[in-house]
Amino acid sequence: MPEVRVPFPTTRMRRLRRTPALRRAFAETRLHPAQLVLPVFVRQGGADEPTPIASMPGVRQHTTRSVVEVATEAVEAGLGGVIVFGIPATKDAVGSSGWDPDGPVPTAVRAIKQRVGDDLVVWADVCQCEYTDHGHCGPLAPDGEVLNDPAVDGYVRDAVAYADAGVDLVAPSGMMDGQVAAIRAGLDGAGHERVGVVAYAAKYASAFYGPFRDAAGSAVVDGGDRSSHQMDPRNGREARLELDLDAAEGADVLMVKPAMAYLDVVAEARRRSDLPVAAYQVSGEYAMIQAAAERGWLEGGPAMSEAVTSILRAGADQVLTYAALELAQAVDR
Ligand code: PBG
Repeated sequence: MPEVRVPFPTTRMRRLRRTPALRRAFAETRLHPAQLVLPVFVRQGGADEPTPIASMPGVRQHTTRSVVEVATEAVEAGLGGVIVFGIPATKDAVGSSGWDPDGPVPTAVRAIKQRVGDDLVVWADVCQCEYTDHGHCGPLAPDGEVLNDPAVDGYVRDAVAYADAGVDLVAPSGMMDGQVAAIRAGLDGAGHERVGVVAYAAKYASAFYGPFRDAAGSAVVDGGDRSSHQMDPRNGREARLELDLDAAEGADVLMVKPAMAYLDVVAEARRRSDLPVAAYQVSGEYAMIQAAAERGWLEGGPAMSEAVTSILRAGADQVLTYAALELAQAVDR
């Protein structure tokens, strides 16, 4: 057997990994609470206590009162923000409860802002799937197609209603063409120049949204799906077109969603644009770690923090995660 010669001592790569203090000092990525945004669900009608969501252990549908408590915890934990989703008491074919000033999101936003003011960044998701009785992201043509411009008109009304209620950022997630430009113009026209738009720019038609549709009651009723407007998971190059369009339409932040199966797209967004990049660790990404942890198949806390760290390492500035409060407690100081 010839002798194997290593060109440098075998401690070459291990020196800086030797102790926790060395590893901490040379860590390239740091998880900080201000990088985390907590999604919250607020419901009108039904029980007046928060309700657990079976497929998302640890996540609840809130009442206006309990969502304000969570917002207070978010401020104490130093989170980057919360993003509010609404579950309305009534739904119709066009989703008009979405822009009702007394609907779940405006009511929650007013209550949160009244309690915590500008100490917390408050985002609102803008889509119609929670508000239509058929569960699609906008009004339908007779043949069942989701109509682009009528959907966008609804998003503009939603965004203005959320801005009137005091939200800092609106985040259109419906993936209709032209939604960012229309919302920007609608906000400006209503005197809300200071409200920013976080564009769900590269949002894929993903199986990982499954548990969310339980949480938000937004499943498509007729067995259809969202592939005619959300992106095809096979496409990476197309994400560049989406990112560029949303930047050109006036987005303040670009978002990629889901996160972990699309880290290549997060990295591409970071390379391509100097806008801040957000990435959404979606319900299925959260639920699969929780489910495996419940079975003792992996350790939930470290797995969650590794997953979120990977999203930051890929280039995200902000990560939306249902584990934001737990992660904020566990950050390595
Ligand atoms: C649309 C919306 C969805 C999610 C965020 N905004 C659902 C969808 O597109 O079907 C998914 C978030 C998650 O899965 O955590 N309102």
